[in-house]
Amino acid sequence: MSKKRTKEEYFAKEKELIGTSTVDFDGPVIIGGKGIVGYDLNGKEFLDFTGQISLLNTGYGPKEVVSAICQQAKSGVHSCISADYPFLNEITINRRKLEVSRVALAEKLIEITDKVMPFKKRVYFEDSGATAVDLAGKIAEITHIRNRGIGTESLQRHFESDIFIPSEFELFKFSFLVFRNAFHGRHGLAQLFTNSKPKQMWAVSSSCAVGRLPFPTPGINGWKFSRTVKSAEEHISKFAPILAFIFEPVQGEGGINVPDGALLKELAGYLREKGIYIIADEIQAGLGRTGKMWACEHFGIEPDMLITSKSFSAGIGGVSAVIVNDDKFKDLEPGMHSGSHHASPIPVAAAIANIDLILRKNLVEQSANHGAYLLRRLEAIKEKRPSLISDVRGLGLMIGIEFQTAEIRDAVAKECKMNGLLLAPCGQKVIRMTPPLIVTIEEIDKALDIFENVLNYFLGKP
Ligand SMILES: Cc1ncc(COP(=O)(O)O)c(C=O)c1O
Repeated sequence: MSKKRTKEEYFAKEKELIGTSTVDFDGPVIIGGKGIVGYDLNGKEFLDFTGQISLLNTGYGPKEVVSAICQQAKSGVHSCISADYPFLNEITINRRKLEVSRVALAEKLIEITDKVMPFKKRVYFEDSGATAVDLAGKIAEITHIRNRGIGTESLQRHFESDIFIPSEFELFKFSFLVFRNAFHGRHGLAQLFTNSKPKQMWAVSSSCAVGRLPFPTPGINGWKFSRTVKSAEEHISKFAPILAFIFEPVQGEGGINVPDGALLKELAGYLREKGIYIIADEIQAGLGRTGKMWACEHFGIEPDMLITSKSFSAGIGGVSAVIVNDDKFKDLEPGMHSGSHHASPIPVAAAIANIDLILRKNLVEQSANHGAYLLRRLEAIKEKRPSLISDVRGLGLMIGIEFQTAEIRDAVAKECKMNGLLLAPCGQKVIRMTPPLIVTIEEIDKALDIFENVLNYFLGKP
């Protein structure tokens, strides 16, 4: 029998073998988990207040999701080109029968987006966050072209041409509006939309352009904001027509930025009047994370498209979705978009069980209540330590703690980790607290005890 690697041996091989790894070499090598607790290879437990960056809204190994995955795998249909040959299975969760199929998942998505998108909808599946964002941009582009009466026949000459440079043709050039500090992923249009770190711009591949708007932070000058919007709009539309505004209703990677809701709504309304599509990237903020099923609900925004991924399949991956207004976006022609791994059986089973769990256990409401408690306690902690913390903010269980400097932030996160509390950085000098929505008040108290002790240690207090 081969000997189990030690943590040090494992990390050494990560460094040697795996490309562009973002591994935290002070962090755990996770060998298991239950609820909000993860188990490290070194035998220690940690409270996971990263929620694996909103992947684990229902925590580590939720038994209903694990059961759904096992039942689907045992059916023998663990994989198929589901876009061509759909699958259908019936599983039993807590003595209730649930259908596992793409249609059942689409029906569920349509139901849980009814409040925020109260119109007829259609669901497009993808397999990750970035690819779903890219698909949303693609749907906007194709719709725009078709609305101008241009059909696939106009692509024939480009298809037959030996040299094809898309950026030279109007047909492939579009503009989009995004927010500064946005994170939408690292593929295709999603990479173009992202404004998180300069290194993430390398090899960006698109014939399109973006206009970057300032995030409408509370306290921002509204008049200046709308002037900047108009100037970006004027500038970017000279390059190509502006098709869509894509935004995170609460920014995640950018530093847990909650907008001035009225300003955001005004912006969405203004752009919509100009015929610009409104696309909400709810990949991190959706599915109860902010205390509403979708973060847009906080601001009364009804997006034309809504994107979900990450926690959608309880973090399994392999299924993400773009939910669109069916009246605005005529269905794409068959084969215009597809993929071998879109909505394959096991992720679909996981997603169905996961959404069922979120609804049955009222996790959206729990996120609002426990998030409000966590935020209140953090505000009190901040008040007593202004030399370390400059701001706390958030909605539901999507909370950011801004430190005076990035160095303090990193040192605090490291010390917390040593003491069994896992926290992830974001933005310039922010730590996010995004525990699974199942977190209890006792677990919040336990985490905050560790956090406060660490802050006191840095202040030299006993
Ligand atoms: C808001 C948002 N959009 C898109 C993405 C990209 O998702 P993925 O990592 O699955 O490509 C992320 C990932 O963190 C995200 O937070």
